[in-house]
Amino acid sequence: MSVLDFDLSDRDFWARPMSEREEAFERLRSLGTPAFFEEAEMAYMPKGPGYYALVRHADILEASRNPEVFCSGDGGATNIPDMPAEFAEYFGSMINMDDPRHARLRRIVSRAFTPKMIKQFESDVEAAAVGIVDDLLAKGPGCDFVTEVAARLPLKIICDMMGIPERDYQFVFDRSNIILGGFDPEYTGGDLDQLAERLLNAGMELQQLVQDLAAHRADHPTGDLTSSLVNANIDGERLTMQELGSFFILLVVAGNETTRNAISYGMRLLTKNPDQRALWLEDIDGRAPGAVEEIVRLASPVNFMRRKTTRDFEMNGHLYRKGQKVVLFYWAANRDASVFDDPLRFDITRHPNPHVGYGGPGPHFCLGAHLARREITVMFRELLRRVPGIEAGKPDRLHSSFINGIKHMECTF
Ligand code: HEM
Repeated sequence: MSVLDFDLSDRDFWARPMSEREEAFERLRSLGTPAFFEEAEMAYMPKGPGYYALVRHADILEASRNPEVFCSGDGGATNIPDMPAEFAEYFGSMINMDDPRHARLRRIVSRAFTPKMIKQFESDVEAAAVGIVDDLLAKGPGCDFVTEVAARLPLKIICDMMGIPERDYQFVFDRSNIILGGFDPEYTGGDLDQLAERLLNAGMELQQLVQDLAAHRADHPTGDLTSSLVNANIDGERLTMQELGSFFILLVVAGNETTRNAISYGMRLLTKNPDQRALWLEDIDGRAPGAVEEIVRLASPVNFMRRKTTRDFEMNGHLYRKGQKVVLFYWAANRDASVFDDPLRFDITRHPNPHVGYGGPGPHFCLGAHLARREITVMFRELLRRVPGIEAGKPDRLHSSFINGIKHMECTF
């Protein structure tokens, strides 16, 4: 990049302080046209042709509304380089597909993933949050908020929904950390040349876990999601074992690594903004919906998704050529001052709050948004009621361009 003094494809950029990231994206939003970046060299993927960074709210909305132009399937949405073929077995689920295949899968799984199904788990979410706060109080101040609080709720809920026993929680957690560990040595083992192998292994192990469970549920169904999915027969359509495996991987990864970070960022935001905590404490239930949306806006746990153009297309004054890649930076759109007044301010009463933390309006809008909102609401309700003064220390951030993650964060109360 000639005019910019930073490069989004440089790994080190994503380890810089958040204030520098804010400035860089503000700069990108202020450009008249989307900036183009070369792709990074990666050990296990051929270098691609580069990508446009979409950072404005209006661009992300329009790209999301035109999925037949900005597709997810040609090389994948969860990665900037095209996904190598051997990865598709484990990571090629519906998030990386277009209609009609995407619609077919989403139809099958959303029949199982209904609000009614989620309602069934509501009391489990509440009971789990109570247990987590009981343990926090028993442990006392000084413990790691991420591992002791934020990570536990989504992990337990997604595993319970799927029917995975408690003894396998840690196994699932460790593998989902590897899959979304970015460049972080704590999860990648430090050797990025070995990363492809580690990712494939983690995918294979999770797939094996769900396929074993599914084989059992086929003959002994229970009320869990695995039973519904394995026995789902929508207009004569069923999931194949491979589809079930990759959907399960998508669910555990998407369900764990996102909600956990929203809860951790939420704790940090409350610590930094005592006025907003006081406001929330005045009416814990009444202010929860606004507060939870505002947490997801500022946390933007999923930083971006990628698309590829299927034809030439002009959008907001820029002509995209067929076959070009664009990266939708949700995190940046959620800070667009033309949509959000004083965008860096944490304001739990912000209204309207048309953030794109769960994706833009289109076929890939987060399937778990309803569940995530529920989990974040219940976790904070429990914390604010029983540990109202809890505060978070400095976050130890995940080194990743894809996930805005916090690995560890001490808490005091
Ligand atoms: C705060 C928490 C969460 C955030 C910020 C989040 C974010 C997102 C985003 C940005 C997308 C859009 C992908 C795209 O544009 O291509 C997405 C899709 C998806 N999310 Fe979430 N998510 C969260 C929680 C969850 C949970 C709890 C689950 C499931 C248990 C889940 C399952 C999914 C699935 C299956 C998709 C793919 C949908 C499709 O391609 O049709 N997410 N999520």
